[in-house]
Amino acid sequence: MWETKIPPWLYSRIFVSWKRVNREVEVLEKVFKKFGAKRLIELGCGVGRQGYLMYKKGFEILLTDVADWRFGVARNLPFRKYDVLRGGDIGVFDGGYALGLMIIFTYRDMVKALKNVKKLIVEGGPFVFDYNFTTYNEPREVNVKVRGRNYRALLKRETVEPIVGGVLYKYRIEVVDDEGNIVGVEDTAYPVYNKEVIMSAIRESGWKIETIIWAKWDPIKYLYTLSKHEADSAFIVLKNLVE
Ligand SMILES: C[S@@+](CC[C@H](N)C(=O)[O-])C[C@H]1O[C@@H](n2cnc3c(N)ncnc32)[C@H](O)[C@@H]1O
Repeated sequence: MWETKIPPWLYSRIFVSWKRVNREVEVLEKVFKKFGAKRLIELGCGVGRQGYLMYKKGFEILLTDVADWRFGVARNLPFRKYDVLRGGDIGVFDGGYALGLMIIFTYRDMVKALKNVKKLIVEGGPFVFDYNFTTYNEPREVNVKVRGRNYRALLKRETVEPIVGGVLYKYRIEVVDDEGNIVGVEDTAYPVYNKEVIMSAIRESGWKIETIIWAKWDPIKYLYTLSKHEADSAFIVLKNLVE
């Protein structure tokens, strides 16, 4: 199971730059406007920056995550703890989205999560999630400055093992301060499936694909660039059609 022991104030600076978040929110904004969806739920919001920008753009957002580790401005937004693998009644929304969430799940959990999310979205409404079909998506080294101090996030180890339909990607990132102290560790793993497997999980969970917005993942800048052609990553837009 994916987990991080990098504190939120550092995690947000290293992995969730406003530049990255802006890119993702531009995609979400277009999709939800097209659907006329205003009341949205975000699953696995993490530090909450995407939700904050969506709120600034005028959407009504409920942030959710299995744990509340929101940081900074996102702490002022409505939030509920919600485990997408357990499901449960949390309301019905015009649309929903999850970034960096489906990627951490095994096939079975992905199907479970997609089925649970289906119950949270109105009939005909959209659910958007991103998926990265490649393995080497953790940055080798990232330098950030926080309150006058330098921090370096270093990829210390990574391994890739074959599994059915893809690979299991294991890695260890250590964040060190300017005195060499380790101030955060992310030592974890997640499966990376190929496109066919993801399409199969979508079918099995009963969602219909509305559209696929292709993107290229830049592991150095740690953000997406949209692509006109099929690429290593995608924002997958699903529509909740009742069979
Ligand atoms: C890789 S982080 C992505 C965070 C954020 N969405 C982003 O794009 O930066 C995965 C997030 O999923 C959350 N998460 C893990 N398992 C979950 C579950 N079963 N239900 C809801 N959220 C979960 C974690 O707490 C974490 O915030």
